[in-house]
Amino acid sequence: MIPWKQLGTALTPEDGNPVGLFCRGSEYSIRVSGQELMNSRMSGSEKQLARLACDALGPHLKPRVLIGGLGMGFTLAAALEGLPPGAEVVVAELLPELVLWNRDHLSHLAGSPLDDSRVAVEVGDVVKRLDRPARRYDAVILDVDNGPGALTQEGNAWLYTTQGLRAIRKGLAPKGVLGVWSAIDSPSFTRRLKECGFHPEVHRVRARETGKGARHTLWIATRR
Ligand SMILES: C[S@@+](CC[C@H](N)C(=O)[O-])C[C@H]1O[C@@H](n2cnc3c(N)ncnc32)[C@H](O)[C@@H]1O
Repeated sequence: MIPWKQLGTALTPEDGNPVGLFCRGSEYSIRVSGQELMNSRMSGSEKQLARLACDALGPHLKPRVLIGGLGMGFTLAAALEGLPPGAEVVVAELLPELVLWNRDHLSHLAGSPLDDSRVAVEVGDVVKRLDRPARRYDAVILDVDNGPGALTQEGNAWLYTTQGLRAIRKGLAPKGVLGVWSAIDSPSFTRRLKECGFHPEVHRVRARETGKGARHTLWIATRR
């Protein structure tokens, strides 16, 4: 078996959790504190998140979309496929190293989505961006953790709270869409979305595009 090789290291700014980029042949893995956050062989549900969120947006000439975070760029690439030429896509990525890794090692995986002229990458915490949104978004697509209970850094917990969801709702245009990825289902999160003024749909989808692999949960929640 080919051994894993470490290509890069970083630290989360808040908690100092170690983040690593690993490679084994053509397979890539991003790990936080030793736990896998993203694997290049399993991108089906990450793409599906973007597809479902873009579908829920309906016809729109110039949608403004916020994606947090970048990972390996699969969600971003799928969103770009589903969005019109006039779309504006802001990618909020916590770690500057992740952006560099995408340019240096990972761009071939998702077809170099960072080169698309509709995309602006902003290095920083998506929590801060959503807490005080400068302008409204038509869609906010979040895949920053392994789910509402498994966090890259402690501060991300806010995103899944009543306070966080109410702030995100405020930052969405009328009928705006919030998409959230999770490795596991969370009925309490679905209830919270309803309490915070969203109409959530819960999708259980397979990890792999082949229809195989673990089931992941996607919430596509429309602002009521
Ligand atoms: C699971 S990966 C995203 C995978 C991505 N959907 C894809 O298609 O490859 C999570 C990403 O979110 C980033 N991240 C974690 N917390 C964040 C935060 N608070 N703000 C912005 N990005 C964050 C991580 O650095 C990582 O790049």
